[in-house]
Amino acid sequence: MNLPALQTTSSFIETRGLSRQYRVGPAEIQALADVNLHVQQGQFVAVLGVSGSGKSTLLHLLGGLDTPNAGSVWVDNRDLATMSRHQRTIYRRTMVGFIFQSYYLVASLTAAENVALALTFQGVHGAERTRLAAESIDRVGLGRRASHRPNELSGGEQQRVAIARAIVHRPRLLLADEPTGNLDRTTASEVIGLIDEIHRELGTTVVMVSHDEEMATRVADRLLRLRDGRLEPEGGVA
Ligand SMILES: Nc1ncnc2c1ncn2[C@@H]1O[C@H](COP(=O)(O)OP(=O)(O)OP(=O)(O)O)[C@@H](O)[C@H]1O
Ligand SMILES: [Mg+2]
Repeated sequence: MNLPALQTTSSFIETRGLSRQYRVGPAEIQALADVNLHVQQGQFVAVLGVSGSGKSTLLHLLGGLDTPNAGSVWVDNRDLATMSRHQRTIYRRTMVGFIFQSYYLVASLTAAENVALALTFQGVHGAERTRLAAESIDRVGLGRRASHRPNELSGGEQQRVAIARAIVHRPRLLLADEPTGNLDRTTASEVIGLIDEIHRELGTTVVMVSHDEEMATRVADRLLRLRDGRLEPEGGVA
């Protein structure tokens, strides 16, 4: 088996000249342009920027859901571009946890089953799978709702299930794309608090897209701002 190229860098995440263009008919859209980013292991980074500035594009590239037109993404000293399709799938399933604005839960499964399903894809089965799923559901404070189906849960509770699913395999990188976009302010604040707790307890590196600068400032070590696909110079957390 060909292993992805190894190179020692001091950063957990490093992007070099990362660029992504889309061609829509005759038009070319520069969604991300020459992004050079270093994120240390265990950092909590918030990504801000107006709609269309390239936030989701960046997250998708970091998570191996999309591939760049130019530049590279290195995570834990591995160049995603040199990974085979299979290696990239393994990378996504073992190294990364994703949380989106929509919860993407399977409607016919209970909360615990939704979380357990993620483990099936990792080859974890039987009692071990049940135990880990229950532990993750407890971790997000939903122990008493474990046998509820998504339509029997509030939006905030559904997002907690999605978070339990994202962390059940203990990913080293948690990518969250507007995780509170569908929630009211109080619930959003609780969900952000939960992500913050997970970050601190598990030492997970977090990259979170948010449109709420105040909320992002509360939990993030760093704020990144994208404008027209470009990273603005960092001013640090106010
Ligand atoms: N699959 C695609 N095909 C064509 N253009 C795309 C595609 N995905 C994104 N874009 C374009 O790339 C740019 C960046 O999109 P992106 O989704 O990264 O923005 P965003 O910052 O996440 O916005 P939002 O806050 O609305 O989610 C936008 O101009 C968008 O229209
Ligand atoms: Mg987006």
